[in-house]
Amino acid sequence: MKTYLVTGGAGFIGSNYIHYMFRKYGDAIRIINVDALTYAGNPENLADLEENPNYTFVKADICDAEAIRKIFAENEIDRVVHFAAESHVDRSIKDPAVFVKTNVLGTLNMLNGAKEAWELPDGSFKEGKKFLHVSTDEVYGSLSEDGGYFYETTPYDPHSPYSASKASSDFLVKAYMDTYRFPANITNCSNNYGPYQFPEKLIPLIINNALQGKTLPVYGDGKNVRDWLFVEDHCKGIDMVQEKGKLFETYNIGGHNEKQNIEIVKIIIDTLREMLPEEDPRREHLTYDLIHYVTDRKGHDRRYAIAPDKIKAEVGWYPETKFEDGIKKTIAWYFDHQDWMEHVTSGAYQSYYADMYEGR
Ligand code: NAD
Ligand code: DAU
Repeated sequence: MKTYLVTGGAGFIGSNYIHYMFRKYGDAIRIINVDALTYAGNPENLADLEENPNYTFVKADICDAEAIRKIFAENEIDRVVHFAAESHVDRSIKDPAVFVKTNVLGTLNMLNGAKEAWELPDGSFKEGKKFLHVSTDEVYGSLSEDGGYFYETTPYDPHSPYSASKASSDFLVKAYMDTYRFPANITNCSNNYGPYQFPEKLIPLIINNALQGKTLPVYGDGKNVRDWLFVEDHCKGIDMVQEKGKLFETYNIGGHNEKQNIEIVKIIIDTLREMLPEEDPRREHLTYDLIHYVTDRKGHDRRYAIAPDKIKAEVGWYPETKFEDGIKKTIAWYFDHQDWMEHVTSGAYQSYYADMYEGR
């Protein structure tokens, strides 16, 4: 039985990954989830696993060397899947320091914990151990509107404090692979969407606001392009890279699904109107009049687009969910989990929203 150490498993992608892995492997795996439960971490995302004897939750900060060492000492960890990070670009623009601490120093601490546990006296590593560092396409910078893609060979050119911190963490993982032959992979994925995403990010924020008849904030001219991938396809890619990828390699993950932000907002409005019953009073307000153009994000990257050729050719990965289906599934999930949305938007979210959007 393999034991996985997942960091940041109470967040959006991490919780989807843990669900995906138990659906796929059942009780053939064990998962230990280490998460500090910041504003973005929500134990409710994994409430259904509380009774699962193969699942353990440890509340700890990935920067806490002792706590991480203890987990490695007490468990024979086979795989590390490292999601934990500060992940929101707008927050990084307001307060970069915590991004450097968690994303750079936290990653260094995770690398050291795994290295110490897995390294043999001759400097090689125990057979079969693997560390997967989950990273982002934002490390490659920004593409022009009229073409080009991010390949694994594209030079790093991060612009925001968030992407700079992720780029630094990628370089640390690369340094450990090159210097120590530390058994790792890096994946750089495009924008994810799906259940359990915190409503500071575009898609859940727009769904939540639209359902409440609130204005829908669109930054700048709304024509920035992101390459959207259903979160389960990302989870499948991570698992396939660990099982079928070549060690020490980087793989880009994305499904050629580029959309301008304004298209996304309009698709959400149209889909919500289709899905709400005729008699639902919220339908009346669901028009494009809710769209409100606001001051642009500072240093806003224009376009991201992944070339997934390498992961397709070497690992056999391809995305299974078409955007038309994924967005419906996603909206249906937020419909069915309005209590989840209420819980995460009470308290601190209100002041975050006011600070980020009021008078913008
Ligand atoms: P998220 O913000 O939803 O979740 C982050 C999780 O990490 C939370 O559970 C939080 O509590 C935890 N965490 C934060 N700081 C911690 C610390 N110091 N110690 C322990 N736990 C801590 O993020 P997400 O969107 O799920 O992203 C997960 C990873 O995937 C990140 O590394 C991100 O850079 C990367 N990524 C995200 C996307 C995307 O579209 N969301 C795309 C590509 C890559
Ligand atoms: O590309 C992968 C990255 O995708 C991940 O590494 C990040 O963790 C993740 O947050 C995401 O970053 P983005 O900045 O692209 O995502 P966000 O949802 O914040 O914004 C998507 C686009 O929508 C972006 O161009 C900004 C715009 N936007 C966002 C918000 C929150 C708006 O127009 N209005 C908004 O209110």
